[in-house]
Amino acid sequence: MFKVEPLVPYSKEYEICIKEAKDRVGNAPIKERINDISNYEVIYIMSPIYWRTYAPEVETAIKDLDFTGKTVRVVSTHEGSGLGNMVNDVKKICTGANVLDSIAIVGSQAKDSKSKIESWV
Ligand SMILES: Cc1cc2nc3c(=O)[nH]c(=O)nc-3n(C[C@H](O)[C@H](O)[C@H](O)COP(=O)(O)O)c2cc1C
Repeated sequence: MFKVEPLVPYSKEYEICIKEAKDRVGNAPIKERINDISNYEVIYIMSPIYWRTYAPEVETAIKDLDFTGKTVRVVSTHEGSGLGNMVNDVKKICTGANVLDSIAIVGSQAKDSKSKIESWV
């Protein structure tokens, strides 16, 4: 599993965090990058939903990778939007991928969603 982490952690204060996240859309540096996914056939892209799509750091992590021929499954956590536009945005950015079924988990219920995820996987 590869964990995408922001280069600079988000503030724990909600209002500041929202502002920081907005500022990072389209330019969200991450601590570490994965450069080569050639050894993987099925890739799960997981993200909290920010403004109805993936977090900006997830875009940074996936945007330059070669997804040609890969199978992609999408997992979101959210507080009402479900998958929002995330699946469509993943399809746009992961050119050449076969994006299969996806699942949305309510963030506040994530800890109790193990069996839901297991039966989906
Ligand atoms: C900047 C920001 C934007 C968000 N936008 C949405 C949204 O559009 N729709 C939604 O359902 N939840 C939204 N949320 C709630 C997050 O999806 C939720 O907090 C997350 O899935 C839970 O994961 P976490 O514990 O890592 O924050 C947003 C949260 C933040 C911080």
